[in-house]
Amino acid sequence: MDVLVIPGSLRSGSYNVRLASLAVKELALSGATVTRLSLADYPLPIYDGDLEAEKGVPEPARRLARHFLAHDAILIVSPEYNAGVSALVKNTIDWVSRVGMEPFRAAVFGLAAASPGGFGGLRGLISLRQSLELELGALVVPEQMLVPRAGAAFDADGAFVDPKMADRLRSMLRALLARAAAQKRI
Ligand code: FNR
Repeated sequence: MDVLVIPGSLRSGSYNVRLASLAVKELALSGATVTRLSLADYPLPIYDGDLEAEKGVPEPARRLARHFLAHDAILIVSPEYNAGVSALVKNTIDWVSRVGMEPFRAAVFGLAAASPGGFGGLRGLISLRQSLELELGALVVPEQMLVPRAGAAFDADGAFVDPKMADRLRSMLRALLARAAAQKRI
């Protein structure tokens, strides 16, 4: 099973990057082949139709689209900003969608979020799920991982302080891999 993990934050010390790192470890332990990317390596301007008409879809969005197509599962780990998904993630999705719908329909998506707040980034994932499922026709597993109060959730080594959180992540990733395996058999 080939899994792509995409952290939706560029911040050094990002909680979402930490969560993505734990997911990468868990996925590797379960036998998946994991590719983790940083959106810093796929710099994209804010979407602008004039820019697209003039210069076409930027190469980083085309590269991302090829990555999406080459994986069985894609885990997006995104912060919540003002009750919505991070602009970085949304802008990336908007550009990749200009390549076509296929990159969103080839893999099964899983969603995760970490936030210093009490909702754990839930509202950001709702808006992300809406774009992926309702507009782009992506298959997004219902199971998702939320890490509220992220400032106290990780220890100095980046592991979860509460073992229950580790169990929750494991079971969410298991659901993602099971769904991706089922899709592969169809
Ligand atoms: C936030 N943050 C935030 N958190 C949340 O749970 N719900 C929210 O609506 C918002 N809104 C928000 C708006 C803006 C402009 C900023 C700068 C921050 C806090 C956010 O979750 C926090 O900065 C995280 O640490 C960002 O994720 P990373 O970079 O740690 O992965």
